[in-house]
Amino acid sequence: MPNERESAGPSNSDQGSEVSEAQIAVHWREEGYYYPTAKFIGQANASDPAIRERFSEEHFPECFREYADLLDWDQYWHTTLDTSNPPFWKWFVGGRLNASYNCVDRHLPKARNRAALIWVPEIESEETRTVTYGELYARVNEFAAVLKDFCGLKAGDRITFHMPMVPELPVAMLAAARLGVIHSEVFGGFSGAACGDRIADSDSHVLVTIDGYWRNGQVSDHKVKADEAIARAAELGGRIDKVLVWRRKQGEYLSDTPMVPGRDFFVDDLLKDYKDRIVEPVSMPAEAPLFLMYTSGTTGRPKGCQHSTGGYLAYVAGTSKFYQDIHPEDTYWCFADIGWITGHSYIVYGPLALGTTSVMYEGVPTYPDAGRPWRIAERLGVTTFHTAPTTIRMLRKLGPDEPTKYRYSFKHMTTVGEPIEPEVWRWYYDVVGKGEAAIVDTWWQTENGGFLGSTLPALQPMKPGSCGPGVLGVYPVIYDENGDEVPAGSGRAGNICIRNPWPGIFQTIWNQPDRFVQLYYEKYNRDKNSTDWHDWPYFAGDGAMKATDGYFRILGRVDDVVNVAGHRLGTKELESAALTVPEVAEAAAVPVIDELRGRVVEMYVSLKPGYSASAEMEDKVSKALEIQIGKIARPKSVWIVPDMPKTRSGKIMRRVIAGISNFGEVGDISTLANPDIVDTIRHHVQAKKLAQGDVGRELTKEEREEIEAYGSAD
Ligand code: PRX
Repeated sequence: MPNERESAGPSNSDQGSEVSEAQIAVHWREEGYYYPTAKFIGQANASDPAIRERFSEEHFPECFREYADLLDWDQYWHTTLDTSNPPFWKWFVGGRLNASYNCVDRHLPKARNRAALIWVPEIESEETRTVTYGELYARVNEFAAVLKDFCGLKAGDRITFHMPMVPELPVAMLAAARLGVIHSEVFGGFSGAACGDRIADSDSHVLVTIDGYWRNGQVSDHKVKADEAIARAAELGGRIDKVLVWRRKQGEYLSDTPMVPGRDFFVDDLLKDYKDRIVEPVSMPAEAPLFLMYTSGTTGRPKGCQHSTGGYLAYVAGTSKFYQDIHPEDTYWCFADIGWITGHSYIVYGPLALGTTSVMYEGVPTYPDAGRPWRIAERLGVTTFHTAPTTIRMLRKLGPDEPTKYRYSFKHMTTVGEPIEPEVWRWYYDVVGKGEAAIVDTWWQTENGGFLGSTLPALQPMKPGSCGPGVLGVYPVIYDENGDEVPAGSGRAGNICIRNPWPGIFQTIWNQPDRFVQLYYEKYNRDKNSTDWHDWPYFAGDGAMKATDGYFRILGRVDDVVNVAGHRLGTKELESAALTVPEVAEAAAVPVIDELRGRVVEMYVSLKPGYSASAEMEDKVSKALEIQIGKIARPKSVWIVPDMPKTRSGKIMRRVIAGISNFGEVGDISTLANPDIVDTIRHHVQAKKLAQGDVGRELTKEEREEIEAYGSAD
């Protein structure tokens, strides 16, 4: 571990890492440390180094009592960690609690009038809405009454939300949690079809949506997606009985689609019958599922990550306290979408479990200009800021000096979701954080519930581009393909794994327990009959390197998942969407390095005989991705090619086209059945790119390796 000394600025010291990564990572040299300010350390929740000792391996798993004790339990647990049915770990067994009670009710005696949520609408002239803990309590109870009495939902049932960033979303989540109903929120930007897939998979019979919302200065009709979702779910054998439609503006209806009598109901109408109703929180076993969060994997079918009530809530409360350094009196703004795991854990459950004020923003970061976030921060007195590298890159590009024009002052900032380039990190630190805010670069995944890798902000210095060591009670390791440990400072990358279970880990993939075991544990399992957790390392699917100081640098996915602007899109998912176009015979999606969004997707398709390439056909493919998945899946380019490069067994060699798209190497093509096609495609694609002014750029060593390995997981 680096020295824990204090200084306001960067240090060039390499403290113990001279031999390490500098030699290999030519483009990304070993960075110096940055230290938190004395002011930050003075107020930090975790400022006593003894905390690391308390969470050391010899105190595992009992160390996590400290997290669980942040919650109110109806019944205390008898077993902290049950490993009897690996890798289906059970945490805090015997305990009972309610998540809604923990995020709302228990704060009332002290904080009834404190803002729980501050909602900022995208339109700047529209009024900001504050929901105090007292109001949140009333609204959660009333909506819980609707779910219980009007919809007939009970503990263990599933409910799907397809909601954008409006306060009605956390209200709905907490209302479901109050009843023990398992919620499944589908990111609002996803298409109706994507929502329908998730409705069918989770077997939800109630859908909660909204008529419309503001996005980039436009009203987006959202209710229309509910109709599409229900149609898609029905094709898959699913059934929705009731659609509850919130209204973005009282008395208006922002959608063009009609309400279906007997199926669609305006929530504001329903609530009239449930005014001031109180619904007792249902005391749930710690192991009861709290929610499902779907994510992309290597196959087309999305994975419903099932998160528990007790373990999850304890984990997000603990990490929010020690890593986000949240205090009840803070104004905390996580600029993510609640439709992703980051929003669940670090807009809703973690911050509200700690009784703080959580800010929600409806729109895009740069609307109407790149000064918007900083105006919001100044006006609301935001103390703590949390966002993704993509947003930081975009704000840096469009308004590099904007933060200096506003008098906000952050004490703490987070970056999450993708690797952050050191120069982007430095802009975040110097300009956004004004050299005052401590930064945590938090590495984790939908599956994990909360952070896996990060520095403790007052105790471990920051290093641009590295997330830091494993978090408290989480012991990562890097294995090579043979299961041998890749040592720290070796300069070699490998597969980052977590050696131990932790309370936030998902319980399973909804209805797919075999896939859960196979995808996350089979690779490095030492003995499938063992009930010793040491034999079950968790395989994260990320490539990483460890420096001699114990800090990890995450390089990106090792499977066929493309991380677009911090959002995971599965190759197969993208390809199946392209194949819904009747003229398309074959499709292959590849990642392309992008300065703003990290990675973007380019889609290669070949057409069935009798059809020829045209701009209309390209649009059709692009549109298909938007319809099947959502706007975030829209490819940067669609390349219609006469044939795909294939092996003799007919497998599409994605690394070859990925190389072409990135102006990189195509590697060995001697095993192809049709090697001549490579030059044809290269000429076609690169000539068009050059004509559009896209000349690519030299790839770093890690990027090259990623592209050259792309598709090898098939
Ligand atoms: O590749 C890693 C990358 O995002 C993936 C997880 O994506 P998702 O499940 O959508 O969750 C995103 C928010 C938790 C990881 O497998 N990733 C996440 N955080 C970082 C990161 N890569 C580098 N640095 C990070 N801090």
